Amino acid sequence: MDTQPNSPDARDRKYHLHAYTDARRHQEIGPLIIEKGDGIYVEDDTGKRYIEAMAGLWSVGVGFSEPRLVQAATQQMSKLPFYHNFGHKGHSPLIDLAEKLVTIAPVPMSKAFFTNSGSEANDTAMKMIWYRSNALGQPQRKKLISRIRGYHGVTIASASLTGLPNNHISFDLPIANVLHTSSPHYWREALPGETEQDFSSRLADDLEKLIIAEGPDTIAAFFGEPVMGAGGVIVPPAGYWQKIQAVLAKYDILLVADEVICGFGRTGEMFGTTTYKMKADTLSCAKALTSAYFPLSAVLINEPVYEVLVDQSKKIGTFGHGFTGGGHPVAAAVALENLKIIEERGLVAHAREVGAHMLKGLRELGSHDLVGEVRGVGLIAAIELVADKPGKSPWGKAGALGGLVARLLQQNGVITRNMGDALAFCPPLIITKAQIDTLLAAVKQSLDAALKEVKG
Ligand SMILES: Cc1ncc(COP(=O)(O)O)c(C=O)c1O
Repeated sequence: MDTQPNSPDARDRKYHLHAYTDARRHQEIGPLIIEKGDGIYVEDDTGKRYIEAMAGLWSVGVGFSEPRLVQAATQQMSKLPFYHNFGHKGHSPLIDLAEKLVTIAPVPMSKAFFTNSGSEANDTAMKMIWYRSNALGQPQRKKLISRIRGYHGVTIASASLTGLPNNHISFDLPIANVLHTSSPHYWREALPGETEQDFSSRLADDLEKLIIAEGPDTIAAFFGEPVMGAGGVIVPPAGYWQKIQAVLAKYDILLVADEVICGFGRTGEMFGTTTYKMKADTLSCAKALTSAYFPLSAVLINEPVYEVLVDQSKKIGTFGHGFTGGGHPVAAAVALENLKIIEERGLVAHAREVGAHMLKGLRELGSHDLVGEVRGVGLIAAIELVADKPGKSPWGKAGALGGLVARLLQQNGVITRNMGDALAFCPPLIITKAQIDTLLAAVKQSLDAALKEVKG
């Protein structure tokens, strides 16, 4: 750490309020300054290399140094550095990208609408759904259901959908009309002796009870990530999506698939919707769409949703929604090239194959004294850390052990992220089996070091 008054470290502490950071603690420990990217690695300002085992916030599919994306961005920047799609205007990269996304969508979709972030995509989906309810002459149908531990973003609306306390406390959220139902974490929430199928049935019952209590004709949509990411990588238990969807269908409630993490290969299919046979009406995607080289997100909507919006926009005179940068030409050019690379290099099948290798290795660590549960699908996984395996109890305050192991891993050259005591692994799709073995060795080494500390 360089604490000279004009060092980057000192200036960062002085001028920068970081996202998702304990601002007080940041004054004490300062930033980790990342200067370079190379494949699955990033390098800090002291030259230390790390495996970026979170793909930089679940995002960078093709790695941190893909020249084709740089070239796509540069070429587009020289040709048309900015244009928008308001008021009947358009540009070629966005036309191509809309067609591409509708074509590869996992369920029949009709149109793509472009935004800048996952939060904006979900906000947009929410607004479209409200607009639709009004257009259908059902102004009372405005309530949205998401799940405890679900993550849908941080804007006022999407943070309301998010089911995590830190996104609500002190922000006066959630707003009205957003309800939360049970989280599908079998290991933590199942009753003694309950099978995964029984647990899924109970959660579907919980959902139905909530719908009935609120009034079925007041519920517009259910928002869900195929696999919960930021809530701790919660993989749905057997039968979960089938049973939840049966309830939604019974009450004519739309399903919004939040594919912001799962989309573009993460679950070992192009979309998590395919992995879990979800019949989504709208789909939000972001992050790996451009490998996060440029901000871009999209909402895909199916024909029945579009049909209602299109008539309402005619009646009002416009669909009064859109972001200046949403569908930026450079972002669209990068996304098209990124999707081409994913397809040409077979990165979805690759993620499935190396993901199985990663999960097998993590499962082998399941016998470690500090590992309570190992869970994952495709190339996304988590280990849940506990101090006492049978009691599933934490080491002191919840999250303390997760934080300790994440810090030890960072010392050992791996960047990951602890969500409480769940430690997530979501490396770039291009990671190799040999690189996964290096990652697993660092996890084992860090767990062993943590165990010494825990045993004191
Ligand atoms: C499933 C999901 N939805 C939405 C978001 C919000 O995306 P953004 O941070 O781009 O606003 C995230 C971010 O992690 C996410 O994981």
